[in-house]
This record gives sequence, structure tokens and C-alpha cells, in this order.
Amino acid sequence: MTAPIRVLIAKPGLDGHDRGALVVAQGLRDEGMEVIYTGIRQTPAQIVAVALQEDVACVGLSSLSGAHLELFTEVARRLRECGANDILLVGGGVIPAADVPLLQAGGVAAVFTAGATVSEMARYIRAHVTRGPGKDAAATLQELVRGLHHVGIAVNDIAQALPFYTDTMGFRVTHREIIQELGVNAVLLRFGEMQLELLEPTDDSSPIAKHLRRRGAGTHHIAYAVANLQEALDRLAKSGAQLLDRTPRRGVGGHLIAFLHPKSAGGALTELVQDRGDEQGER
Ligand code: CO
Repeated sequence: MTAPIRVLIAKPGLDGHDRGALVVAQGLRDEGMEVIYTGIRQTPAQIVAVALQEDVACVGLSSLSGAHLELFTEVARRLRECGANDILLVGGGVIPAADVPLLQAGGVAAVFTAGATVSEMARYIRAHVTRGPGKDAAATLQELVRGLHHVGIAVNDIAQALPFYTDTMGFRVTHREIIQELGVNAVLLRFGEMQLELLEPTDDSSPIAKHLRRRGAGTHHIAYAVANLQEALDRLAKSGAQLLDRTPRRGVGGHLIAFLHPKSAGGALTELVQDRGDEQGER
């Protein structure tokens, strides 16, 4: 038997309704976790202080007040400042879907909105905590890596390259997108668990155009799914890896992504993708 995962459930901000937070706290206890509850109307500073004092592996924030963006990201920022960003931070409550990527970019690993069950939360927490018994917060990525996410292929002409992947190989197009500011015209393809990203330059100044000139068409990058992208980047930075992105940014298909310099990965341009945990069902 390993020791239970310690979780702090906290309610930042001014709203005074904590029925939801209490249900989650009890539910996580029923799931075998050790849960501490702060009570209502806590400041981010108070929450972080308790998290450190109680040496929790996970902080769950609940908000119904509408102030979740500033409050949740402030908790994340304060955890980072204390060097405690290996504490898994999750949130829930009344949160519009549009705010979820903003919260994730701000350091909240996962957001559970109305309809999420406590057992889903527990499953997520179990899979993603990096602190606690048997977990070492050393600069290693292994417990954060969830698997290969996709391979990016640079092509001169998507229309010309596509039939091989769709008609011959059997991939299905799942997403098309032109990202002007990156100079990329992208098509995402899926076949079972496998995903590919075909990338065509939109103009000559695009990084894809540069890649095609220097190395020709072909494999452009390899992308791995990670549980907590900001945490993964912090660990990589600690380990001396060269990062092209120090914080997550939006990539093709709305994913939060970041790139490592090829120098740090045996010459392969390497992308990390925030695992949304919803992609098994996306087929
Ligand atoms: Co990619």
C-alpha cells in the first residue's frame, strides 16, 4: 500500500457557496485521497501557504464567482514563485469553455466544468500528480510524458501530398487550419492512435519555407503529449535543455504547445503538446 495522495481543496475569492467544493472534497476522500479543505473566501497567498505547509501533491480550486481567471492563475504564479510548480493545480466550478485554454496557459493543468464527475477528477489527479510517495520532483520528464502525439511533415504542396496519406494509407483528415502568423497551412490526420500534421508554407518567409529550402520536404518535427506542459518546460529548463518556447503557446488545432531546440533532442525538432486527456474519444 502506498500512502494516499494529499489534496488541498480551496475556494479563492468572494463567493460564499461551497456545496460543490464540499462534494468534491468528500468524493476525493471516498476515492482514497487525503483531502484538506480551506473553507471559503481564501486569498491565493493563503491557499499557497496552506499547500506548502500541508505538503500536498495537488491543489483543487473551485470558483463560482467569475473571477477564476485572475484567482487561479495567481495561485499558479505564486506556486511557481515558491518553486512548488510540481504541485498539480486543477480547477473547477462555473467556468466558460473559452476560459479553459487561458487557465491552462496560466498554469492550471486541468479544468473540470459542470458535468465532470468526481471519479474523473480522481482519475486525472492519480495520473498526473508528480509529488508524493515514490515521486521525485527531479528534473525528469518521464512521469509527465503520455506518449507520441504526432509527427509533423513539411511538404511543398499539401494537395499533392495528401492522397498518399488518405487514400493509400487510410488516414482521415481531422482538422485543417491556416495560421497566418506562423506562416503555416496545416492538415491534421488520424489513423487509430497515430496522428500526422502536414505543414505547407503560406509564404516564403514562413519557417516551413525555410525548412524546405534547407532540408527539403519530409519529417519536420516530432511531438509528444505531456501531462503538464508548463511543468515539463520548467523541468527541461532545469535540466539544461534549450527551449524555443519557455511558456506554452497555441498551436495547430487549438493545442497548447512548445518547441525544444533540435540541439537538445539529437537533432530532431521536438514539440511538446499539453495532453487534454480527451483525445482517445476523438476518433
Ligand atoms: Co506539431
